[in-house]
Amino acid sequence: MSTAIDVPGSGIPTSDPVGDSTPAGDSTTGVEPAGAGSAEAGRPVRITVILGSVRDGRFLPTVADWFTERVAERAAGRGDVLVDRLDLAEVPLPLDMAAPDGGSSPEVGAALAAAARRLAEADAFVVITPEYNHSFPAALKNLVDWHFAEWQAKPVGFVSYGGVSGGLRAVEQLRTVFAELHAVTIRRSVSFHHPWSWFDEAGRPSDPEGSAAAAAGMLDQLHWWASALRQARAETPYAA
Ligand SMILES: Cc1cc2nc3c(=O)[nH]c(=O)nc-3n(C[C@H](O)[C@H](O)[C@H](O)COP(=O)(O)O)c2cc1C
Repeated sequence: MSTAIDVPGSGIPTSDPVGDSTPAGDSTTGVEPAGAGSAEAGRPVRITVILGSVRDGRFLPTVADWFTERVAERAAGRGDVLVDRLDLAEVPLPLDMAAPDGGSSPEVGAALAAAARRLAEADAFVVITPEYNHSFPAALKNLVDWHFAEWQAKPVGFVSYGGVSGGLRAVEQLRTVFAELHAVTIRRSVSFHHPWSWFDEAGRPSDPEGSAAAAAGMLDQLHWWASALRQARAETPYAA
């Protein structure tokens, strides 16, 4: 089941479907699923949003809070999405990758197990990343490299930010990384250049309609891929 995560600013319970409708195919409807694929089709799509900056004084929370609100807004009334926020600043993964069970550190073992479980439970991912030296943060690569099967045959969307590039160079590099992991990256993405001058102190972007439309477009495609791939995985195990 999902992990209950506090989502600042959104007011939504993340362990429950976002929105207030009963998902199609839910047992309360009395409709018997015809098979594994049909049962999968009726469940809300679980999106794990990965917060990719761990830097002290990071700008990331402003972008992450804004995006989480857009997920809630897009899903309002549909009840077809669950959201989980995985903040890498709260996941102390070691760099050496020597012991998957954490070795002599129970804390590391617990952090690894929790992160792996949350990634495994996800139907889709959204990576929120800044651009560092024309790429993405090392902490994000560490999370990616610690896992393998958790990414396979699942879609990945991107929200990026940075200087003039809006973080797009980080996203392009991430696309090649996720291809190696048998994940499918979403064509549409959201990017902010100079976000520190784009968002006001209340966390509102200067073009709220345009920014929301970009997020909605990406989420629509992400949801389509997440539903299709989840059904396909249920019918035929993915061969990596
Ligand atoms: C180490 C470092 C390298 C950076 N390199 C780039 C870069 O190559 N291109 C760019 O557009 N912005 C670059 N920036 C600016 C960041 O994208 C910007 O400061 C962003 O807000 C960082 O996200 P964060 O505050 O959430 O960590 C860099 C920032 C840092 C700290």
